Amino acid sequence: MKEHLWKEVFKGLRRSGRRIAATGCMLALSLSALSGCGGASPSRTSDKIKLGVTIYDQYDTFLSQYMECFTKELEADENVDVVVYNASQSQQTQNSQVKKMIEDGCDVICVNLVDRTDPSTVIDAARKADVPIVFFNRELVEGDISRWNRLFYVGADAVQSGILEGELAAATCLSDKSIDRNGDGKIQYIVLEGEAGHQDAIVRTEYSVDTLVQKGIEVDKLGYAIANWNRAQAQTKVASFIENYGDGIELIMSNNDDMALGAIDAYEAAGMIKSDWPAIFGIDGTTVGLEAVRDDKMTGTVYNDKEGQAEAMFKLAVTLARGGSIDELSDEYEITDGKYIRLSYEKITATNINKYLSR
Ligand code: BGC
Ligand code: CA
Repeated sequence: MKEHLWKEVFKGLRRSGRRIAATGCMLALSLSALSGCGGASPSRTSDKIKLGVTIYDQYDTFLSQYMECFTKELEADENVDVVVYNASQSQQTQNSQVKKMIEDGCDVICVNLVDRTDPSTVIDAARKADVPIVFFNRELVEGDISRWNRLFYVGADAVQSGILEGELAAATCLSDKSIDRNGDGKIQYIVLEGEAGHQDAIVRTEYSVDTLVQKGIEVDKLGYAIANWNRAQAQTKVASFIENYGDGIELIMSNNDDMALGAIDAYEAAGMIKSDWPAIFGIDGTTVGLEAVRDDKMTGTVYNDKEGQAEAMFKLAVTLARGGSIDELSDEYEITDGKYIRLSYEKITATNINKYLSR
């Protein structure tokens, strides 16, 4: 079991004598990670705190960049040690990781749930050991988060991301009549959806299209595909849409940047000239997503503030670990129901891309 868990730990970095068993880049296992969250740490002083993090999948582009931001926060604070585990898309693995982090004496654990509808084991273990949990990015349902007063959530407002994506697409359709390539007065579109059951996929799909319609765009839905946030899966799905519709797709609304990039890959692989591509919109503003906007391959995206969310999660975890309450952060963040911190999304197009590229 131990061996198994150790293998899940990302590369541990030793920086300035501190243990940081965390990095956004997925490097090979290093022995320094084996001290894990509190393992052998003889130098630990009483004011030093230990945080544990488990993410659902280290290969998720947004999450890996999120963890890079989190690691930066960490570097600024000498008195915090962190270990990061990859749950490899298994809730069972994640449950074991949480138990291990509790055994190892983590003061607070940050959990990016694999299955957002199945947090019971995590909650029960944390509650029994009186270790607060900060869930992030994959939101558990209200009935679960209200099961204990030391459960929190840091994320963003999914509804807002859908609305902003819809507004971006509507503005483009209204200002650029060439989007309606066949001139039938309607926009032929497809939607690329993230994981079924993920709050962001459900809500973004609904609100992006609703907003487009509310803004007065007549639409004609050609289809949708679930591509699980994944670039390669989106490429495969879009390739088959291209086979069916040729240059007849005028707009692609994607639930995230990686799938929008998969769509771009499909158009490039099909050898279609750019003027036959649809307008493509994403959400996230990952580095690769921003570059696609800069290079005029993606028309726009919506910034999912990974820096802000990672910072809020770090601050909340440290505050809780030092015995404080979420209310201490109320000057900086809007706190809902004493449990939620949600950061805002922002629209990104070619006109403001430089601001984001330089972050
Ligand atoms: C992001 C996706 C990511 C997902 C993972 C979403 O908020 O937009 O890119 O794959 O979270 O949970
Ligand atoms: Ca049309």
